[in-house]
This record gives sequence, C-alpha cells and structure tokens, in this order.
Amino acid sequence: GDNVMYLAHRHDIPMEGACEASLACTTCHVYVPPDYFDKLPSSEEKEDDLLDMAPFLKENSRLGCQIT
Ligand code: FES
Repeated sequence: GDNVMYLAHRHDIPMEGACEASLACTTCHVYVPPDYFDKLPSSEEKEDDLLDMAPFLKENSRLGCQIT
C-alpha cells in the first residue's frame, strides 16, 4: 500500500517500520506538521491504542505506516 512509510522508503528517506505496517509496533511514530495533521483522515482506534504506548507522544503524533 501507499502509506507514508512506504513512500519514504521509496525516496530513500529512512523511517523505521519494524512490523511492516501491521499495527504491531510504534517504530514508525512520526510528528505530522499541524497544518497537515488536520487534513489527514483521523486515526483508527487500533492506531490510537498503539500511540498511547509510543515514547514522546505529542498532539500531532501518528504512526507513519497508517497515514495514507
Ligand atoms: Fe509497525 Fe507502523 S510499522 S505500526
């Protein structure tokens, strides 16, 4: 699929993704610029549950592999 993590990889931008986008890790945790954050489809409950366990959680935190 075309999520931010795969896009980053395709453009040689390093982004962790230990579980290959299967919502089982928080290594793809990213901060989304606030302007852009509001335009994204909101996160699903499963993503939110994982984000709760991510270190340094912020208002604009998302899991990179879930941003499409
Ligand atoms: Fe594991 Fe995104 S790569 S949740």
